[in-house]
Amino acid sequence: MQNVSKKNKSWGAVMSSDTDDFVKTFGASVTFDKKLYSYDIQGSIAHATMLCKCKIINNKELKLIKNGLEQIHHQIQKGQFQWSIDAEDVHMNIEKALIDEIGEAGKKLHTARSRNDQIATDIRLYLREATEQIKHHLILLSTAILDQATVHTDTIMPGFTHLQAAQPITVGFHLMAWHQMIYRDLQRLQDCHQRINIMPLGSAALAGTSYPIDRNITQKLLKFDSISENALDAVSDRDFAIEFTSFASILMMHLSRMSEEIILWSSAQFNFITMPDEYSTGSSIMPQKKNPDVPELVRGKTSRIYGHLMSLLSLMKSQPLAYNKDIQEDKEPLFDTVDTILNSTKVFTGMITKIRFNKDILLRQTKKGYTTATDLADYLTKKDIAFRDAHHIVGAVVAYAMKQNINLEQLTLGQLQNFHPQIEQDVFDVLNPEMSLNLKNSTGGSAPHQTKKSIKQAYKNLENLKN
Ligand code: ARG
Repeated sequence: MQNVSKKNKSWGAVMSSDTDDFVKTFGASVTFDKKLYSYDIQGSIAHATMLCKCKIINNKELKLIKNGLEQIHHQIQKGQFQWSIDAEDVHMNIEKALIDEIGEAGKKLHTARSRNDQIATDIRLYLREATEQIKHHLILLSTAILDQATVHTDTIMPGFTHLQAAQPITVGFHLMAWHQMIYRDLQRLQDCHQRINIMPLGSAALAGTSYPIDRNITQKLLKFDSISENALDAVSDRDFAIEFTSFASILMMHLSRMSEEIILWSSAQFNFITMPDEYSTGSSIMPQKKNPDVPELVRGKTSRIYGHLMSLLSLMKSQPLAYNKDIQEDKEPLFDTVDTILNSTKVFTGMITKIRFNKDILLRQTKKGYTTATDLADYLTKKDIAFRDAHHIVGAVVAYAMKQNINLEQLTLGQLQNFHPQIEQDVFDVLNPEMSLNLKNSTGGSAPHQTKKSIKQAYKNLENLKN
């Protein structure tokens, strides 16, 4: 028998010299894909179990492989495993250690499998677990928002358009807008989870395998919802990772909008909220400062996630089927996306729980912003004055109040009647922000009654998502 094992690599037979040392380092992914070790081992144990059930390996071999892999798992967990660049990636490091450990049986593990379906399986297992964890933390964040909204269904604040005070709303109503954003993110995550939880294992390199494998066995063992339909597609596409990163980008976009509001609101100029000290930092030079580092960082990290989405999209653009080494570049953006959104979500939950809303200032600013001017126009319209005319009249009223440096409510009936004789005592009902709020009773409107209703529904929706 010819000696085919002179060179240390598994594919050495067709090459006359070893891969250059620098090229080895350049091509190795073990420095980052070792993160996948537990999924890799889980997949390998399921694969070996299936091989045994299909009589491709025997019981004794399975037992050796299983024990060997479990031992390796243990070693890695305890930090006692020697990762080597020479073995290139997580798969070959573990396989090599297994062969060193159990000998001949170890060499059979890779039967009817390729690293192409192996890595696709590992990433899907990793991402499946990550999405479950992210879902859990998004539900916690949503709950924190709902809890604050519940406390503040009657706390009046100015609602803005163009960052100019527009109409009175409540803090609860505003927070419920945040909740809706996160709830849709949760729905997107759930949806994407369905396309993550499909098993590529058994696709082998690109064309399936001639061994009598049974993919249903590995599917059940690995708890995948279904089995990939086409081997060529299964080993080469990463659309599920792109979809996940799209979800993550939209989530971060939402968190960045909330961050921006928290930053504005906590400034001395707004003073709508008091930031918890635990979530703020001081300045090394200006003693009066309390900086909202947490929301600023979350706002900043958003750009990283957009970057990862662009990386993955560009990575996959124009790649011919099936697997190409380019695809190895999918891991770092994906890992960082998972870590960043998890951390951002966790830190946000704690921060939201502890933010204090400064009720008096919020109410004062609502009145100062002439936010019931539209209500006055609507009042006149209901008295059969055309809206355009009413709008004009109210403009003059506001200009007058501004000149007097008073709020709309502080005008006397006499002063108001100078602008239109049909204005009567009941006008003060609509000029009062609280009254104005109660009038916005359309479904989804800012009336506290509507907000209370939607909070109740939102808690229920979250409960349903948990199952
Ligand atoms: N380290 C590779 C990756 O992450 C594993 C798959 C390698 N397959 C191959 N045919 N070279 O994509």
